[in-house]
Amino acid sequence: MTTDSQTEYMMALIDLHRGLDRKGPGDSDYSRNILSNLSKVPPKPRIADLGCGSGAGALLLAQHYNSTVIAVDSSSVFINELKARAKLLGIEHLVIPICGDMAKLDWSVGSVDLLWSEGAAYNLGFEQALKIWRPLLANNSIAVISELSWLTDHRPEPAIAYWQNAYPTMGTKAENTTRANRSGFSVLSTHRLPSQAWWANYYDPLRERIRQIDITSSLQSVIRETEEEMRMFEKFSDFYGYIFYVLQATEEKSL
Ligand SMILES: C[S@@+](CC[C@H](N)C(=O)[O-])C[C@H]1O[C@@H](n2cnc3c(N)ncnc32)[C@H](O)[C@@H]1O
Repeated sequence: MTTDSQTEYMMALIDLHRGLDRKGPGDSDYSRNILSNLSKVPPKPRIADLGCGSGAGALLLAQHYNSTVIAVDSSSVFINELKARAKLLGIEHLVIPICGDMAKLDWSVGSVDLLWSEGAAYNLGFEQALKIWRPLLANNSIAVISELSWLTDHRPEPAIAYWQNAYPTMGTKAENTTRANRSGFSVLSTHRLPSQAWWANYYDPLRERIRQIDITSSLQSVIRETEEEMRMFEKFSDFYGYIFYVLQATEEKSL
């Protein structure tokens, strides 16, 4: 793809997700459950949601902790949606939306107590994201990152071929644990997002959006690929899925 066609593709992808509460698989109750089991977060944590989309995580985090959340996304469309949603919920004073690159944050070292990132780290690559984000966290602080992961060592050929093209560095839980350790984190726990949450909270609303949207030529290829992604998940959800990695920043950094 040329830069122009890449930009056009990204704009179409953003357009397709316009108005959806979630821009990727996730589930609010599932997230709350993870948060309620985090014992190492201070009462008023300094929180960041990186690759926040329109705020599925950021809004929930702000409400859960009644604390400020800095929410970063590269899409101004999604950031504007986040602002509107925060206002509607009456919590705009708790959300600091930033339209920017989550790989280039010039924040002070150790300025974040809880780093949250749902379905976004893969844009940088899991390990690369962890290495870039680790300095933002003080020693012993917590990061919760959902990452598309292989669930089994034996995988069907069509799933391998698909992900070899779409996300070649996708790892297993064991591989991602090694990557996290290499990046200055220990893994406290892992939680697999149930497949049902992919459908109920992401793919079903996305299908509805596809039914309603005016299909321009630039949207055609995005929709074709999105539908292929859904067909893959329909067939092979036993073999890959989102895992939430609950990580703790270790004192020994082997960066
Ligand atoms: C799959 S969506 C998940 C969004 C949100 N966390 C959610 O669960 O609804 C991934 C998000 O990462 C954002 N993103 C991708 N690359 C980024 C970058 N380099 N910096 C900031 N945001 C980025 C996209 O705009 C998109 O909103």
